[in-house]
Amino acid sequence: MNNVIIKFMKTLVKRIDRNKIDDDIILQAGAILQRGGLVAFPTETVYGLGANALDEEAAKKTYEAKGRPADNPLIVHIAELSYLDKIVADIPKKAIELAAAFWPGPLTMIFEKSSAVPYGTTGGLDTVAVRLPDDEIARALILAGGGYVSAPSANTSGRPSPTSSRHVEEDMDGRVDMILDGGSVDIGVESTIVDMTVTPPMILRPGAVTKGMLEAVIGEVQVDKTLLSECSIEAPKAPGMKYRHYAPKAPLTIVEGDIKDVVRAIKQLAFAMHRQGKTAGIIASSETVSLYTSGIVKNIGTRASQSSIAKNLYKVLREFDEESVDCIYSESFAADGIGRAVMNRLEKAAAHQIIDAAEVVKHQEYRRVVFVSTSDNCRGPVAAELLRNQELLQEYVIESRGMIVLFPEPPNPKAEAIMKSRRMTLEGQEAKAFSAEDLDEDTLVLTMEEPQKWKIITDYEYVRHVYTLGEFIESGEEVPSAHGQPLAEYGKTFELLKGMIIKLADKLNGAAGEK
Ligand code: TXA
Ligand code: MG
Repeated sequence: MNNVIIKFMKTLVKRIDRNKIDDDIILQAGAILQRGGLVAFPTETVYGLGANALDEEAAKKTYEAKGRPADNPLIVHIAELSYLDKIVADIPKKAIELAAAFWPGPLTMIFEKSSAVPYGTTGGLDTVAVRLPDDEIARALILAGGGYVSAPSANTSGRPSPTSSRHVEEDMDGRVDMILDGGSVDIGVESTIVDMTVTPPMILRPGAVTKGMLEAVIGEVQVDKTLLSECSIEAPKAPGMKYRHYAPKAPLTIVEGDIKDVVRAIKQLAFAMHRQGKTAGIIASSETVSLYTSGIVKNIGTRASQSSIAKNLYKVLREFDEESVDCIYSESFAADGIGRAVMNRLEKAAAHQIIDAAEVVKHQEYRRVVFVSTSDNCRGPVAAELLRNQELLQEYVIESRGMIVLFPEPPNPKAEAIMKSRRMTLEGQEAKAFSAEDLDEDTLVLTMEEPQKWKIITDYEYVRHVYTLGEFIESGEEVPSAHGQPLAEYGKTFELLKGMIIKLADKLNGAAGEK
């Protein structure tokens, strides 16, 4: 229903320089809040959708603008600690200690509410969530608006939280009175929520203030166990955590495991999509972004800085909504520090669809294919190039070697002429001698003829996976050398190899499909 809401208000967008905050704009925005209107504004975590927290009607408007269920309570934002007294019934000592350590900042605390806070703001609960943000524009607005500003993230319910005013406009244009544009936010994931009404205090939502940071100040802190186990049947303590938040349009799958396996698995999955005529989106990191060969790839930040990943997370998820991708695969990231919050949001966006990279790649028997001919300047290199041009379900290193190679000879000119006539080339190829290194556990060695196979079997000690090409594809054909013969013979060898390589690709792909 959200999409069909008719635009009903003119939304003013005002750019604010945080180094020189324009008082007139702040006063104008504050006046809108005081008379019950809605103003979206930047905070250090994400953009908020502000309303007067003490005005029941204003809360209703907030829920309407977001298309949010009214049982999902709002966070009340204050600008100075002294404002806390009026809205909470009791301030535990540990809350004072946490406020001293982390306010202003990305920490929300839950208290017993006072009668000053309407149930419309708390979604009917007797508790109230309070945060004192660090962003100066936010604090100036809160003061101008009367001191108590309720603000959920300024996205339509179910979309990724906004981290720039452009994101807010996408979702809220026509639904709010004003948007204060303070540029991109600093942190990028919502505040840590801690329930101070229980002992020990309990984290209901992970954020930039981590469990370790909290415990360093107040001792033991527990974590809402629904955050830890995906199959928990209990409802999360923060009502908002139960919704499929932050969801991109295309289904998202997280691929977990050793980073090498993760990249291989995503490549394989993206390629499988490509073969079906579909497009995969890929969430990669600076370290891995260049390794992907199919799909639409986006760099979420560097693994060396978890905060860079937090900052880009929602932007990347939103960008994928603009692309026509059929599904999205994301690498997984270390869940320590702010990474815990990143993985929590990513897991929610993925509706807990997580797969193990090792499971995807373990079915790959060979990772390397080596074609062996006599002098590695014609049949082997042609076979290798033909295989590289096949659509393969899995990634292989494809090479060629010769049994008798005395120097790095270039390709045979007739072979190259045939390749050129078929819009291919052996350019850059240099003959290399076969060696014991080519007998790795994960390498498939395919010779052109029987004698090459037998020479390898008799000359080397640990021989595995050595076949003639014809034997491996079960055609039994030998690939004779055209050496010294007219061009036409080279053409025949090419055609023979082409047919055999198509069968080889089918066989390799068939094995990949048998899972
Ligand atoms: O960083 C943030 O916290 C941002 C910025 C704008 O300050 N705000 C934000 O608000 O993320 P929102 O409404 O998108 O998320 C608030 C979360 C929801 O999951 C809600 O259920 C929970 O806080 N919450 C609010 N009051 C609560 C209460 N009394 N008890 C339990 N959970 C509460
Ligand atoms: Mg939200």
